[in-house]
Amino acid sequence: MDQIVNVEEFQELAKRALPKMYFDFYNGGAEDQHTLKENVEAFRRIMFRPRVLVDVSKIDMSTSILGYPISAPIMIAPTGNHKLAHPKGLFRETATAKAAAACNTIMIVSYMSSCTIEEIASSCYAVRFLQLYVYKRRDVTAQMVKRAEKAGFKAIVLTVDVPKLGRREKDIKNKMIPPKLKNFEGAFSMEVRPNKGSGVEAFTSRAFDSSLSWKDIEWLRSITELPILIKGILTHEDALKAVEAGVDGIVVSNHGGRQLDYSPATITVLEEIVQAVGGSIPVFFDGGVRRGTDVFKALALGAKAVLIGRPIVYGLAAKGEDGVKKVIEMIKNEFEITMALSGCPTIADITRNHVRTENEKL
Ligand code: FNR
Repeated sequence: MDQIVNVEEFQELAKRALPKMYFDFYNGGAEDQHTLKENVEAFRRIMFRPRVLVDVSKIDMSTSILGYPISAPIMIAPTGNHKLAHPKGLFRETATAKAAAACNTIMIVSYMSSCTIEEIASSCYAVRFLQLYVYKRRDVTAQMVKRAEKAGFKAIVLTVDVPKLGRREKDIKNKMIPPKLKNFEGAFSMEVRPNKGSGVEAFTSRAFDSSLSWKDIEWLRSITELPILIKGILTHEDALKAVEAGVDGIVVSNHGGRQLDYSPATITVLEEIVQAVGGSIPVFFDGGVRRGTDVFKALALGAKAVLIGRPIVYGLAAKGEDGVKKVIEMIKNEFEITMALSGCPTIADITRNHVRTENEKL
C-alpha cells in the first residue's frame, strides 16, 4: 500500500482487479465522455496565486457540514452498487462506511446501494446522509426516507439530474446488469432483460419518476424534517430556484459526466452559482476531484466542501476498506500541503485571490 502515491494509481489497480464490465460501469461516462474528461482537465487550467511568509506551522483542515464537524472538506459522493467493487461481492458499502468513520468524514450513501441502509448504519458510526431518487412508486421513496430517519441519517440529498439515464455506451455494449438492490426487495420486481443492452438503463426507465419537478421539493419537505440538499445543479438560474424552494444546500454536479454529455465541467460553473446563492445556503461541489490541489481550487471558488466519487470506488476495488481510507488520507494530505504552500493555515484563509482561472489575465 505504501507504494501507491496517487488516485491515478488506484484507478489502474482497480482496472486490474475488476472484470471489464464492472470497471467500465464505475469508470465510464455518457456518450463521447467529453464532460467526464473535461471535469478533470478543467482543474488543470486553474493555477495558484500562492502567498508566502505566512506562519503555516499548524494547518487546520477541519470544517463543519450542516453542523457536523469533519476533519477536512472532503466527503464521499453517493455511488451505487459497491458490491461490484469485488468480483465475488466481498467489498460493499459497509467497508466504505467504516473508512468514512476512520477518516472522520461524511458518507453520502447512494439510494442504489448494494447493502441496505440499515446494514450500513449498524456497521459503524459515521455521519451519513442519504442520497435519494424519486421513484414512480412514491410510497417506496417515502418509506425509504422514513427508514433513513430511523437509521440515524442526518440529511437527504435529492439527485435531480437523472430524469432519464444518460447513454453510457460501455454499459450498453457490455450488457451491464446491476445486482438486485436489497433496499427495495419485495417493493417491486428488479428483473431486467439481459439481452437488451444496459440493464441499468432498463431499471431506471422502469423505476424513476421522470415527471419530477420543482413542486415536488414541497412534497419531500412535507414528509421529512431532515435537511434537504439538491444534487445536480449546473446553472445560476436553477441555483436560485433551489434557494427559493427552501432547500438547505446544493451540490454543483454533472453526475461525474455520466448524464448529459457536453454539460460544462463543474469547476467552470461553480463560481457563477456561488455568486447567485450569495451565501444564503452552502454550495457543495463534485466532479473530477483527484488531487488535494483540486479541493483547494474548489474551495477558493466558493465551495463549502467537495464530494469524491470514482476515487472512492477505485480505492474500494483495489484494497477494500483500507483502499478507501488511503484514498481519502492521500487527498487530505495533498490538500494540507497545498494549504501550506499557498499560505493558508485554515480553511477560512482560502480566498478567491489564491487562484487564477483561465479567463483571468496575469
Ligand atoms: C455515481 N454518481 C451517483 N450519484 C447519485 O446521486 N446517485 C448514485 O447512485 C450515483 N451512482 C454513481 C455510481 C458511479 C459508479 C459513479 C462513478 C458515480 C455520481 C456521483 O455521486 C458524483 O456526482 C460523481 O461521481 C462525481 O464525479 P467524480 O468524483 O467521479 O469525478
